[in-house]
Amino acid sequence: EQVFQGRSLLAEKDFTKEELMYLIDLSAHLKDLKKRGIPHHYLEGKNIALLFEKSSTRTRAAFTTAAIDLGAHPEYLGKNDIQLGKKESVEDTARVLGGMFDGIEFRGFKQSVVEQLAEFSGVPVWNGLTDEWHPTQMIADFLTVKENFGHVEGVTLAYVGDGRNNMANSLLVTGALLGVNVRIVSPESLFPTKETVDMAQAFAEKSGSKLMITKDVAEGVKDADVLYTDVWVSMGEEDKFAERIELLTPYQLNMDMVRATGKEDMIILHCLPAFHDATTDYGQDVKEKFNIEEMEITDEAFRSKHARQFDQAENRMHSIKAIMAATLGNLFIPKV
Ligand code: CP
Ligand code: NVA
Repeated sequence: EQVFQGRSLLAEKDFTKEELMYLIDLSAHLKDLKKRGIPHHYLEGKNIALLFEKSSTRTRAAFTTAAIDLGAHPEYLGKNDIQLGKKESVEDTARVLGGMFDGIEFRGFKQSVVEQLAEFSGVPVWNGLTDEWHPTQMIADFLTVKENFGHVEGVTLAYVGDGRNNMANSLLVTGALLGVNVRIVSPESLFPTKETVDMAQAFAEKSGSKLMITKDVAEGVKDADVLYTDVWVSMGEEDKFAERIELLTPYQLNMDMVRATGKEDMIILHCLPAFHDATTDYGQDVKEKFNIEEMEITDEAFRSKHARQFDQAENRMHSIKAIMAATLGNLFIPKV
């Protein structure tokens, strides 16, 4: 049995393959309880702080509903609500929040901030996305892979697009840990850093996962069971639209790319939010400015029979529940 109690989830590398698989399976179990209407108040009486420097739909909604379903109280502390990093140091904020809350979620820019929160709060801290990593997303994503293929080991996942953002980093390292074959398919200037590749390679040698970093779309997507993409411009780099559109247009996830996998039962994943639909009014400013209707994924692919991004989004809640219950909980899994 794995020991999770009191631990933080700051980056995937801090967990073993067995621990990550346990969290994925616990997510599936909690999803089953939820679907059957069976209460699972493992965090009765706990207080959870939700710190957001960047905006969020899924992560915020998932932590909020997960906390409530677990019997805990979530409190949203947005960037304009608290003093963090402006009028008060991260260390002092961490010490104060640690005295009142039983667990802290943080989404923001720097990985060092989430690390400091964990160091000084004395309570479990969960990384809800930084510039470098998105670990809670990984549990949901590989749960979705497992739901579709029955297992994660040996599955081939090709991530196309910005190869050095948080999603690319997390998928590469987590896939390597879990024995998933991961391919990062992107222009050379957006390849993951050597440090990230070396870390993933070391995990891959243990798990048997085969890694590929390539700029060649045909080679990268051939035989892929999963095609995964993410926005071309991440939060905090909004000045990069022009250069990214130029660089990444050949890496758009479209139906030609789906066919190029050669796999009839392949699935499409996207962490969301996605830039895919010219007919709705979101993102119009960017679309008009750059005269572009779809970016990282076409509307056709997004709405195709292969698409699983909304299952994946729902799984954020079940997996965040598992992460909080395992690290904070008086966890007792009843036989049902
Ligand atoms: N996938 C994800 O993290 O979505 P949000 O940015 O809406 O939380
Ligand atoms: N790479 C994206 C992920 C959003 C969930 C970003 O950081 O904005």
